[in-house]
Amino acid sequence: MPSRHTTETARRRTFAIISHPDAGKTTVTEKLLLYGGAIQMAGTVKGRKSDRHATSDWMELEKQRGISVTSSVMQFPYKDCIVNLLDTPGHQDFSEDTYRTLTAVDSALMVIDVAKGVEERTIKLMEVCRLRDTPIMTFINKLDREGRDPIDLMDEVENVLKIPCAPITWPIGMGKRFKGVYHLKRDAVHLFSPTHGGKRNAGEVIQGLDNPRLDEVLGGQADELREELELVMGASNEFDLEAYLEGRLTPVFFGSAINNFGLQELLDDFVEYAPPPRSRATESREVMPEEEKFSGFVFKIQANMDPQHRDRIAFMRICSGSFKKGSKLHHVRIGKDVRIADALTFLASDREHAEEAFPGDIIGIHNHGTIRIGDTFTEGEKLAFTGIPNFAPELFRRAQLRDPLKMKQLQKGLQQLCEEGATQLFKPLNNNDLILGAVGVLQFDVVAHRLKNEYNVDAGFENVNVQTARWVSSGDERKLEQFRDKASNNLAIDHGGDLVYIAPTRVNLQMAQEKWPEIEFSATREHG
Ligand code: G4P
Repeated sequence: MPSRHTTETARRRTFAIISHPDAGKTTVTEKLLLYGGAIQMAGTVKGRKSDRHATSDWMELEKQRGISVTSSVMQFPYKDCIVNLLDTPGHQDFSEDTYRTLTAVDSALMVIDVAKGVEERTIKLMEVCRLRDTPIMTFINKLDREGRDPIDLMDEVENVLKIPCAPITWPIGMGKRFKGVYHLKRDAVHLFSPTHGGKRNAGEVIQGLDNPRLDEVLGGQADELREELELVMGASNEFDLEAYLEGRLTPVFFGSAINNFGLQELLDDFVEYAPPPRSRATESREVMPEEEKFSGFVFKIQANMDPQHRDRIAFMRICSGSFKKGSKLHHVRIGKDVRIADALTFLASDREHAEEAFPGDIIGIHNHGTIRIGDTFTEGEKLAFTGIPNFAPELFRRAQLRDPLKMKQLQKGLQQLCEEGATQLFKPLNNNDLILGAVGVLQFDVVAHRLKNEYNVDAGFENVNVQTARWVSSGDERKLEQFRDKASNNLAIDHGGDLVYIAPTRVNLQMAQEKWPEIEFSATREHG
């Protein structure tokens, strides 16, 4: 008989949704949670949005900007599986965070707006998924509206995203003529009945494409469907499980998230086909999820999730073994054992105390500044999971304090917010500036806003003469010492304590690289 560990691992499905803003990621997420029985909802989308903001008012900026800048983990049971859905921030300024979240999943769901087709952000996220051959399912959303021809749309996915499509469901009309979807493999038509809000969809299911009931309900559209399907089946790829699992083919589903339609078909097939936890690379060896000993890595840190308790949570993806409340774990980078007394799991949006968690699950552990993104935890083995980089920021600003007496709070606030990984803090060796680096300009606003709200510090950000940054290291300790001495005007320490070269121009960087061939200048920093 398989062990409990093996069965628990096999039933985990850990994934994230990738999409362009507005395609419907939030709506799909909420409907999936609904199917998982994790939340009870009623009312309109508008009502739901204000509810959501009420629970996340620690991040008021989200409300002001109307964008999702937070990220979370949701767990729900479905059939025999435990599904972990990792939310990714939709705005492009937070792409690093998204990138790292995608390293913590085993598969992804791509949501596409039927009217807009493949959009720029989807292309970028798809590139990230491709780096690890992440299996991808596709949901084409908003069929209740007029959109593009489904065949053209699949062509576009194939041509632009370079991944063959295998339709699993097929829409019957769209917009005002949208009648439902046909499931190609089950040979069943699921009729659309617009049920908004909290109700699960309960439209009629008609078995068999030749069923006369279909003509009764659909009239002329029944024959249209039959003809179209003949064409589709002749021209498109058949679903091939192996190709999907290797990231070489995407099964495609159609529906309307807001109407709860087409998502059940998707979820049913998702739990059946999406991969359970896979093996993971470390610097020394591949770690298999079946291994009994615990291992996991931190892919995200979030500060002040609860403004009542100034807490910072490190999100850890479990890769092998299991976690029990109160376990002792080895924090590999700093070489210390720590007892994790109060880990959190993420059942829907509530954070609950974790009793036990398995590979594929995410646990949240309280961080008092010692944990960094990319850190590995084990039962003692010196492993370091790879592939969770920090990227060199492209924009730099100097923090400018309006009340000089608040310096301590400013330093603390910046240090803690930068541990989340979206922005990076640099302290020059030769002056007392606090320089913030980011990949998108919006992040400076977010930091200023959070400094004010969470740390009571009024600070702004002004331009600074830094154009680019590189982490520096060398196998030659003496050379590094010399470099540190000679180039100190351009050197800074980042919030993780690592040495960084900050260059006023790209030419300056290039000259430094030529002058110091023994020094390595790196545009990414692998954590750990
Ligand atoms: P995002 O997280 O990907 O940014 O998308 P979100 O779910 O917030 O959806 C974006 C908009 O698209 C929302 O409308 C949402 O109601 C709408 N939407 C989602 N699914 C469907 C669908 O199946 N059909 C139609 N017609 N619309 C859909 P909004 O006006 O921006 O927001 P709201 O004020 O209605 O909440």
